[in-house]
Amino acid sequence: MSQLQTSVPTAAFKNYGSLIHAWRNEVKHSLETVSRDTGISSERLSFLERGEGQPTWGELELLARQFSVSVRDLLPLENDLDRGMKFLRGRSARRFDQERAGRLQYTYWERVMTPVLPNIKPVELLLHLHRREEVVLNRGHFFHQYTQVLDGGPVAYLWEWEGKVWEEVFEKGDSWLIPGFVPHGFYSPDAKNPGRILAITFAQHLTGDARQELALLGGRNLSRIVSDEQDYYPKSSEEACP
Ligand SMILES: [Fe+2]
Repeated sequence: MSQLQTSVPTAAFKNYGSLIHAWRNEVKHSLETVSRDTGISSERLSFLERGEGQPTWGELELLARQFSVSVRDLLPLENDLDRGMKFLRGRSARRFDQERAGRLQYTYWERVMTPVLPNIKPVELLLHLHRREEVVLNRGHFFHQYTQVLDGGPVAYLWEWEGKVWEEVFEKGDSWLIPGFVPHGFYSPDAKNPGRILAITFAQHLTGDARQELALLGGRNLSRIVSDEQDYYPKSSEEACP
């Protein structure tokens, strides 16, 4: 009985095993076939399928090729919730500085995040710079951003729009939204009162699988999704489009 209990797989490995088993079923390969093609022994394969061990990255790559899927399809979803929630204490928040052009521009504190909700990324920023000309704008990012002045301030916000850099000054409690890919930056005009802001970036409509598929299509082809004015064949061709 005690032996049986020790062989009960941990949940994490069981999830790996279930996925391998499910995909092997989809392609109707026997353990022996998979073993012959991948070089992973049948014993090791059934050990993995029972969830008794964690597959190595190399094994996952071999299995993904065998099942004609992506390694991503063989990775279990990560759930780090505690009683269905995700908490992060202030004292445990990761803090890091960002320097640009040789100057300390921002200090970041990462706020609560979870792989269960991968498209919400909140951070808090302390704005060290005091002069507009010292601010290095970013290039904008994929996610939209909710921004709010938490403390200190005023906070000066710079952004690029129609080829020009604009500036707006905000005070504690003010909030604004920054659409994706808009270059932006911040500074504290009052050197004695550095601003602190909350920046929550969150997903566009395109996320997860859609984003991955677009990455696969590549920049050259993406414009054809938006507008494809050319014919299937070059104009000179006599043939009709099938
Ligand atoms: Fe941002």
